Amino acid sequence: MEFNTKSGHPEKQRTACVVVGVYEPRRLSEVARRIDEVSQGHLSSILRRGDLEGKPGQTLLLHNVPGTLADRVLLVGCGRERELGDNQYRKVMAQAIRTLHETGSMEAVCYLTELNVRGRDTAWRVRQAIETAHSTLYVFDQLKSKKENTRRPLRKIVFSVASRRELGLAEQASREAQKIAEGARLAKDLGNMPGNICTPSYLADQAKTLCGLHEKLTCKVLTETQLEKQGFGALLAVSKGSEQPPRLIILEYRNGKKNDAPIVFVGKGVTFDSGGISIKPSKNMDEMKFDMCGGAAVLGTMSAAAELQLPLNVVGLIPAVENLPSGGATKPGDIVTSLSGQTIEILNTDAEGRLILCDALTYAENYKPEVVIDIATLTGGCVVALGKHAHGLLSNHNPLTNDLLNAGKDSGDRAWELPLWDDYQEQIKSSFADVANVGGREGSAITAACFLSRFTKKYHWAHLDIAGTAYLFDKKEKGATGRPVPLLTQYLIDRSNEVTVAPPPPPVVVVDEE
Ligand code: BES
Ligand code: MN
Ligand code: ZN
Repeated sequence: MEFNTKSGHPEKQRTACVVVGVYEPRRLSEVARRIDEVSQGHLSSILRRGDLEGKPGQTLLLHNVPGTLADRVLLVGCGRERELGDNQYRKVMAQAIRTLHETGSMEAVCYLTELNVRGRDTAWRVRQAIETAHSTLYVFDQLKSKKENTRRPLRKIVFSVASRRELGLAEQASREAQKIAEGARLAKDLGNMPGNICTPSYLADQAKTLCGLHEKLTCKVLTETQLEKQGFGALLAVSKGSEQPPRLIILEYRNGKKNDAPIVFVGKGVTFDSGGISIKPSKNMDEMKFDMCGGAAVLGTMSAAAELQLPLNVVGLIPAVENLPSGGATKPGDIVTSLSGQTIEILNTDAEGRLILCDALTYAENYKPEVVIDIATLTGGCVVALGKHAHGLLSNHNPLTNDLLNAGKDSGDRAWELPLWDDYQEQIKSSFADVANVGGREGSAITAACFLSRFTKKYHWAHLDIAGTAYLFDKKEKGATGRPVPLLTQYLIDRSNEVTVAPPPPPVVVVDEE
């Protein structure tokens, strides 16, 4: 799919379709009004007859509108103008894209990017438009023997901005959006891939392929023997019950100053989580192929960072394992020694994410990181607490919390903070080891983060629990979401701007000459 931005009059566009908004109740948007004028009231007479109320989700496709050069004009309901916020804008945009795709317009000029969205500027509207277009048209059909082909698919969209002055910003936004969308697509494809194909070694191969595409991106993979030698006792305890060998995937993106401390991402890569000996109920267990979505998000974000050539050093660590029961599997009550030297009593083998993460988090110390951010489908408790809309965010450093919350708000991929108070640490005390891997039902998203916090004392750290947000399991919409690639990439873009934006000039002292 090709995207462009431009500034120009709607009636002058020689294209398959011009897309404009209509507000509820039957009120033309500014651009629609212009088409109405050149067509001598063509649109307003149609609205008067009651063909379109302007509710979000409604569309009306018109052919041969007088005074215009386009083959078609697509009217898109936008709801009440005063109520047009982030979500409504994305819904309206998605509806427009879907309609274009299904009605034979292979290219279009879309003016919905000129709508007034509360508190949002042109760059934001263009970015969200492109990301929405990508996710609306996403299909995962790699494993279907017969693909459903659209006869005349949408190939190219030009998004309009109101003035030429904004074109520079819009183009920058468009570039960012496309790279973010491609990163999210990589994360979705990996997430949707079933566990029999997407194994720890498969993830490692995908990481190598990605690094082959970028000079500044390199990849190293630690094998089971190497992990044993180095003492990854907690990680190895999880993979023991599986015939799939574990991997630690290490990606390094170097495009900052040589001595800039890196930003380190750690992504949970459990390619299937049966629970192990503490086996899960069979209902919906297929969902647990998505238990590597944290790792997939790390790959997607590293891809976006490299494509955007961000002037940063970024490291991605993906501990990848499969959690299965077998005669060789770890048992409840087993005690293992983690890479940090701390001993862990494994009271529940289904709390495996924290076991692979804690060793990867200890390994992250080697990089003397600026910050470490882990991303994991870690707890059912987080799904109960926040549902599918917000990632859970817990951190030992307030400025990092704020940076991530802001990146979430700006990218439309939001996180919500949960408390990482000491009070909760009590729940993971063990009678026989330094720490237990479970803390009971109460506040389980928090006690899971408390467990991780014991391995992150040496640096600034944040944890994103994406159990509720990484994939959807609704009847209608099923599959990986690609989140939090937009949040993490926005965070990196924000960090790059800190690096490259020159400090403000010293204040000019104006001396009054009189
Ligand atoms: N991968 C699961 C968490 C999960 C649950 C993700 C539902 C997505 C949807 C994780 O490994 C797990 O099993 N967590 C347990 C921990 C418990 C045994 C302490 C949980 O949250 O129930
Ligand atoms: Mn589990
Ligand atoms: Zn899991």
